[in-house]
Amino acid sequence: MSYRAGSNRARNTVLTPEVYDLFARSEAYHDAHLIKPDPVLDAALENAKKQGIEVEVAAAPSQAKFLHLVLLSMRAKRVLEVGTLWGYGAIWMARALPEDGEVVALELDPVSAKVTEENAAAAGVGKKLRVIVGPALTSMQAMEPDPSAPYDLVFIDADKRNDVNYFVQAKRLLRPGGVIVVDNVGRRGRLPDEDCDEPSVIGTRELLKYIKNDPEVEATTIHTVGEKGFDGILFAYVK
Ligand code: DHB
Ligand code: MG
Repeated sequence: MSYRAGSNRARNTVLTPEVYDLFARSEAYHDAHLIKPDPVLDAALENAKKQGIEVEVAAAPSQAKFLHLVLLSMRAKRVLEVGTLWGYGAIWMARALPEDGEVVALELDPVSAKVTEENAAAAGVGKKLRVIVGPALTSMQAMEPDPSAPYDLVFIDADKRNDVNYFVQAKRLLRPGGVIVVDNVGRRGRLPDEDCDEPSVIGTRELLKYIKNDPEVEATTIHTVGEKGFDGILFAYVK
C-alpha cells in the first residue's frame, strides 16, 4: 500500500529523497511478495479518510503483519491496544485470534473509535474488537488484572510522551510470559541527540531507561526502514 508515501516522506526530513525512496521501494518489494492485497482494509482506509482521520500514522502493513504473526505464534487470545486510530492494526491483530479472543482498543478520539468499530464490523471481526473511548492511561489505571483472562500482548502506539506510563500499566495487566510491543521507538534517529527535546523523543528515552532498570523485562528494538522512513519497534518479554 503506497497511500502513506507522500506525507511520510515529508515527516522524514532527515533522509534525502534518494534514501527515502530506497527504503520505501525495498519495503514495497517485500510487501508485494509477503502481504496479500486486502480490499477490506483498503475500504477501511477510505472510510477513515472520509471521516477526517490522519491515516498516515497507522502502523505499516509489514509491522501490522508482524504483530499478527507474533499473536499466531503465541496462540494469543487477548490483546490490549493503546491507541487505535482507524483500527488498521487492531483488525490485523483480531484476525490472529480465535473466535472467543478479543482485542480491547483504547482510543482518545471518539471519531477514531467510531471509525474503528465500523471498520472492524465491515472486516468481520466486530465481535472480537471492543473500543474504550477516553484517555488510555485513565482507562488502563481503572482496569483490574483478570487472572482468568489476562492479556497475552499489549501494543502501545499512542502519544509517545506517555510510553513509560503505558508500559508500567501494560505490565500490570499482562500475563506472566506476555509480550509488550511499542511502536515508533526509532524516532528518526533522534534519541542520542542531546539537544533534541521533542516530547516524543523524551518519552522514548524514559521508556528505555525504565526497561534498563527493570529485571522483569527482556527487550530489544528492531529498527525499521520503509515507507515510514527510519523508525523502530520495541519487543519486550515480561517474565
Ligand atoms: C507518528 C506516530 C505513529 O504512531 C506512527 O506510527 C508514525 C508516526 C507520529 O506521531 O509522527
Ligand atoms: Mg505508530
